[in-house]
Amino acid sequence: MKTIKKLTVDLGERSYPILIGEDLLQSPNVFSPYIHGKQILVVTNETIAPLYLQSVVDSLLAYQVDVVVLPDGEEYKTIETLGAIFDQLLLKSHNRTTTLIALGGGVVGDMTGFAAACYQRGVNFIQVPTTLLSQVDSSVGGKTAVNHPKGKNMIGAFYQPQCVIADTSTLNTLDDRQLRAGLAEVIKYGLIADAEFFFWLEDNVDDLLKRNSAALAYAIECSCQNKAKIVSQDEREGGIRAILNLGHTFGHAIETAQSYKDWLHGEAIAAGMIMAAELSCAMGWISSEDVDRTRELFLRCDLPVTPPAIMTHQKFVELMAVDKKVMDGSLRLVLLKAIGHAEVTANFDHEKLSDILRFYD
Ligand code: NAD
Ligand code: GLY
Repeated sequence: MKTIKKLTVDLGERSYPILIGEDLLQSPNVFSPYIHGKQILVVTNETIAPLYLQSVVDSLLAYQVDVVVLPDGEEYKTIETLGAIFDQLLLKSHNRTTTLIALGGGVVGDMTGFAAACYQRGVNFIQVPTTLLSQVDSSVGGKTAVNHPKGKNMIGAFYQPQCVIADTSTLNTLDDRQLRAGLAEVIKYGLIADAEFFFWLEDNVDDLLKRNSAALAYAIECSCQNKAKIVSQDEREGGIRAILNLGHTFGHAIETAQSYKDWLHGEAIAAGMIMAAELSCAMGWISSEDVDRTRELFLRCDLPVTPPAIMTHQKFVELMAVDKKVMDGSLRLVLLKAIGHAEVTANFDHEKLSDILRFYD
């Protein structure tokens, strides 16, 4: 019997479990405790469908199961693509007791969650994340959204799933670049909230890159534990949850400038986290040694540590102005007080930020 780890996102009546384990999609009855009606719509994409759709459908024989297969790619994370999900729900007469199952990475998860939040003003959904990034981050916490040409994840809702089922065996088919992009979010937890985990990552990153299953399971569990703890304290990002966005203000600007086509999300935020670390250092919050060891960890994962050439000072300023952390016209940034401790602040030195943006001009 393979071990299944169960964590909880503690949100009162909206609490839900995160199940982490190998071959979960092959386990009988893995979904049934979290399905309350008779109808299911599995939402996936053209890459994941041939790999895992059949296992999921086979375990749902007692239900009316319909499927929608979306095109693959961040550039399809749009309001137009969402229409395909609503079309299928209406075509197959799904009612308010239906359950949507998001089978895929963060793109499928974010879109399915948003569709579930909107369909008939809200129906149940289950997250089945199949990338490292989605297992450690996007499937947990209820942020759902689609992109707009003017900004990433600009249209969405906070909407929690019934459960998260993270089958770590699905990572066997993930390509190396996607695995490394997921590691950027894993390292993020060490930087923002868990110094001990950061030090563990320094010692074990080579095993993670070699896909050692025990190391991956530990990294996923630690990441989800950190995320669940933060989300439980601040579901709708009124305060501490914003630290989960370390590097994202810079990273989202990069992704938007590239029209979501060139770098992966994890790659963009890796460069963004180094920029945030550099600003933290320029403000005297962390040492240059801390910046160096952070950069070194990203480099060992073959992740970018500088922004791409298209990112001029002007481009950053223009795109960072639409960041969701802008409040009353003031930009707020997540900066590091130490490895393992991040803070959100509007009181950063704007000249020093300009120096860093200009450095890459
Ligand atoms: P993704 O969903 O685009 O998946 C990456 C690629 O891997 C895709 O081509 C996908 O088809 C493929 N894939 C997925 N699982 C696979 C598997 N098991 N085997 C082989 N191929 C597989 O990208 P992602 O990195 O998972 O997620 C990025 C998205 O998540 C972004 O849109 C980002 O904004 C969002 N996100 C959301 C949150 C949140 O809190 N909601 C947090 C972080 C990121
Ligand atoms: N990925 C950021 C958050 O969930 O808040």
